[in-house]
Amino acid sequence: MDKLVIERSGPLCGTVSVHGAKNAVLPIMAACLLSDEPSVITNVPPVTDVFTMMEILRGLGVGAALAQDRLTITPDAYTGVVAPYELVSRMRASVCVLGPLLAKRGRAKVSMPGGCVIGARPIDLHLKGLQALGASVEIKHGYIIASTSGLRGARVQLGGSFGSSVLATGNVMMAASLAEGETLIEQAACEPEVVDLANFLLTMGARIEGCGSRVIRIRGVARLRGARHRIIPDRIEAGTLMIAVAMAGGDVTIDGARAEHLGAVIDKLTEAGASIEKLNGALRVQSDGALKAVEVTTLPFPGFPTDLQAQMMALMAVSRGVSLLTEKIYPERFMHISELNRMGAQITREGASAVVKGVESLRGAPVVAPDLRASAALILAGLVAENHTELDGVDHMERGYAGLEEVLARLGAKITRVKQG
Ligand code: EPU
Repeated sequence: MDKLVIERSGPLCGTVSVHGAKNAVLPIMAACLLSDEPSVITNVPPVTDVFTMMEILRGLGVGAALAQDRLTITPDAYTGVVAPYELVSRMRASVCVLGPLLAKRGRAKVSMPGGCVIGARPIDLHLKGLQALGASVEIKHGYIIASTSGLRGARVQLGGSFGSSVLATGNVMMAASLAEGETLIEQAACEPEVVDLANFLLTMGARIEGCGSRVIRIRGVARLRGARHRIIPDRIEAGTLMIAVAMAGGDVTIDGARAEHLGAVIDKLTEAGASIEKLNGALRVQSDGALKAVEVTTLPFPGFPTDLQAQMMALMAVSRGVSLLTEKIYPERFMHISELNRMGAQITREGASAVVKGVESLRGAPVVAPDLRASAALILAGLVAENHTELDGVDHMERGYAGLEEVLARLGAKITRVKQG
């Protein structure tokens, strides 16, 4: 597996464009299973999770071809109903084929996603929602086996102990689009990726209202068409780059970064001392790298995203004063603390919070990325650490970031990839 070698860098300067959002494209690829007609999706990021979803679709008899950023999905020979363990275990988002398969095929056999490094991540809300629409569900030999003789609209509550669920909202919205009658999803997730999925479904001919709010109304239709759709920009990639510039200093314009998707991030980075300007279709970030402590709590959208928690912790590690970071979505998502501490950070965990005492400077060290977003946090820490940092576990980064090291290198970061075996 490759390694990244990161040297102290900065200031970062220039203009970069963000890719399409990984967390928008994955459920949209699953939504293509609701139609017999081809769909074309553009602005698709070349990340491993997209390739895994392509394999899942192919396993169901659906063609999936990616050329540049354009993904063509052709359901010509679509007869399958199984998403196997080997693929679901690589990526939990595979579970979003469950709703479309049930609605279109009347049956689905999807491997139970296991726990993962960021916490327990149950799927009870997905199952509750689909059962409310009339699906029978049993768990057998590690598989969710679901069937229905016809889904019917219903009133569904999707609030859980940690708030609403992004992919459960998507799963139920997709299934309800082909169900008979009206479905009301209450306590729906409001994330921009849910809105992007709804917009794709609308282009397919679905009848959905209220997306982006806590209550979504879906009136089922008999069939859905293939559709063309451009994926929204990745707010997490944009946020990661914004935090990088705030930490390393510089002046960077991030094309595609949408202020309306990044309000809480803009607010906290401004409070920490960076300056963020809203341009037409872009955000400009300027910083001298001298930051001060802030308090951050991750929350469902429009709150501060959990997918930027690790990167924000790297920033807090070098900000003057004591920062407090509370994780309300995944209370166990703290694997990066020990790696950051190996680089000289002073972070202690207290339950679902981390107390981060800012230090003058981090020290480069060999570190291992425990998960996708932590990989980005360690790269950002490496950019402001003395000497050099060697990052292992780069495959995690490749699941969700398209060429992050190249994007940063274009801005002047000193990062090299060392090929191994
Ligand atoms: N939850 C339940 N029951 C369920 C589903 C979720 O209790 O049936 C809990 C989760 O354990 C968590 C909370 O509800 O505590 C929210 O989880 P959610 O279901 O919203 O997460 P998800 O839909 O599985 C998506 C993203 C994650 C992102 C979360 C939260 C995709 C493919 N994944 O996951 O992205 O962290 O929403 O915003 O969209 C990432 O990209 O690094 C990543 C982990």
